[in-house]
Amino acid sequence: MKDSILVTGGAGFMGAHFVLSWISVVGKPVVNLDLLTYAGNKLNLDVLENDSRYSWVHGDICDRDLVSSLLRQHRPRAIVHFAAESHVDRSIVAPEAFVRTNVEGTLTLLDVANRYWSDLCEPEKSAFRFLHVSTDEVYGSLGPQDPPFTEQSAYAPNSPYAASKAAADHLVRAYYHTWGLPVLTTNCSNNYGPMQSPEKLIPLMILNASEGRALPVYGDGRHVRDWLFVDDHSAAIRVVLEGGRPGESYNIGGNCERTNLEVVSGICDLVDELRPDAGIGPRRQLIEFVRDRPGHDRRYAVDATKIARELSWRPTVTFNEGLRRTVCWYLDHPAWVESARNNAYRKWMEQNYGGRLTE
Ligand code: NAD
Ligand code: TYD
Repeated sequence: MKDSILVTGGAGFMGAHFVLSWISVVGKPVVNLDLLTYAGNKLNLDVLENDSRYSWVHGDICDRDLVSSLLRQHRPRAIVHFAAESHVDRSIVAPEAFVRTNVEGTLTLLDVANRYWSDLCEPEKSAFRFLHVSTDEVYGSLGPQDPPFTEQSAYAPNSPYAASKAAADHLVRAYYHTWGLPVLTTNCSNNYGPMQSPEKLIPLMILNASEGRALPVYGDGRHVRDWLFVDDHSAAIRVVLEGGRPGESYNIGGNCERTNLEVVSGICDLVDELRPDAGIGPRRQLIEFVRDRPGHDRRYAVDATKIARELSWRPTVTFNEGLRRTVCWYLDHPAWVESARNNAYRKWMEQNYGGRLTE
């Protein structure tokens, strides 16, 4: 398949949005390698089932033979690497899977990609890119008056998730410096939008609010995240892939700092407006402050000046607009919600909130 790209983790939240936007905007073939863990959902890419530009491969990024054979078979011009264990709370309960997928899996991909790339001929060799999708959490936590993270900020990961992503970022960098593999790293802030696992803050609060359940806010609810609508992230990855300088990293953020309490209150008001329910009453009354996450990072904020200056990318969706679109999507897609609330989800809810909500 000429001009194809290999995407890992394309059945997850951001990977799925990226694959859909790639096929609609760029129109070239995509091979999607995904293990379909509890976080992956094949429904996310249902609309591509009969699209000849889309190939689905169920498998593990740690499977060296599988990754090698995919590269031999499809000869991609780029690898866009989303696959990961991505939930901080789960990384606190069971960090091993994070090291396996995020560190060992990334190393496997890098190593196989490096062999593939070194055997390519020109012009394919110069055009090849390995794009690693990472997070702002590698930089640790900011104080209230600190300037946002830049690409020069020191790495100071605080959770096992962030530490595993930081380790992966360092391996990516090492493959550039040691062998010249043309890598790109993106460090993005918190994404939100349709098709995000209902374990994560925004979908969890939308669904609980609409069903009249408690809204468990960790600690005092004043932790700050910098929110970016997922389509803006997909656009950022496309511009970095096309114009980013190999060996460089690019910070991506929404320039949209909100406390968790502001986010949850906004969701309550939208759900009240879109699904008024006299039996439930105003949803803000459902907010419960629960035991904090251990080591909970206080504030993330991203300075996205570099990608704006070099590649002319800027976020386009305001938080009000994106949150409304997201709330509407979850309320209008009960079949998707049902499929995402699988056994692993139910077990997780019990494990993470059982004790917290009864304290
Ligand atoms: P997600 O948890 O929704 O999806 C991860 C996907 O990876 C799933 O489809 C899962 O099945 C797949 N996967 C997991 N282990 C795998 C393995 N060993 N082999 C193959 N596939 C595997 O995650 P997301 O929120 O879409 O995040 C995607 C990437 O973006 C991650 O690397 C994450 O660190 C990064 N990131 C996420 C955010 C965010 O706010 N969601 C922000 C910045 C960066
Ligand atoms: P999350 O979506 O897990 O993203 P991250 O921890 O990677 O930023 O959580 C976003 C914020 O919401 C974070 O500060 C933790 C908080 N949070 C709650 O207060 N309650 C919850 O039930 C969850 C899942 C998260």
